[in-house]
Amino acid sequence: MEKKVRKSIGTGWSMAVQPAFIIGTCNEDETDNFAPITWVSATGTDGDHYMLVISMFGTKRTKLNALRDRKLSVNLVSRDMLPLMDYFGTHRAENGKKDGMAYAVSRGEKVDVPVLDESPWVYECEVEKAVGTGASSTFFCPIRNVQCDARLNPENTFDVDLTKLDPVIYSGKYHSIGAYLGEIGDFSK
Ligand SMILES: Cc1cc2nc3c(=O)[nH]c(=O)nc-3n(C[C@H](O)[C@H](O)[C@H](O)COP(=O)(O)O)c2cc1C
Repeated sequence: MEKKVRKSIGTGWSMAVQPAFIIGTCNEDETDNFAPITWVSATGTDGDHYMLVISMFGTKRTKLNALRDRKLSVNLVSRDMLPLMDYFGTHRAENGKKDGMAYAVSRGEKVDVPVLDESPWVYECEVEKAVGTGASSTFFCPIRNVQCDARLNPENTFDVDLTKLDPVIYSGKYHSIGAYLGEIGDFSK
């Protein structure tokens, strides 16, 4: 196996990418707000119950809404949604309603949050706790419902074909996912 020639580049890096998500929250006046947040991970609780772990830096409406309202939707961004994500991410709710692009919104089935009709995979979450680290807040969000594109039909959490979800991957630049490579165990037989 080839030894990679690496160099130390300091600590100011956060490249730990996941599919990109748009977070949906309720404003104080009960209108909807959406913003992309890509610092999203997951952790377990008991059995097959999971929480999303979502981090937000600075001051933004999405963060204020999550702290106040204690619920949010987490909408996976497929490649066809990239213009919408780019729009939501380059506009701040404090500068006015984000109505410069057309998009359709429904309500969650288990949690009363706005969800994006275009997304192929949506988590409906409550916010159980928020932990502050400097200018960032990290939200621990029990998943109360998952909505999945009916054409996918995964059997369990290890059976999701990411090439079909076609997510946008973001790490300062936008990428799409590469090829399907195989399953756990395929490479160590
Ligand atoms: C692709 C993308 C990913 C982003 N990821 C994050 C993130 O993980 N955490 C965060 O706090 N802000 C993130 N942002 C910034 C917010 O989306 C941005 O500040 C947005 O305008 C906030 O809108 P709001 O004020 O309506 O909440 C991201 C922006 C883009 C375009």
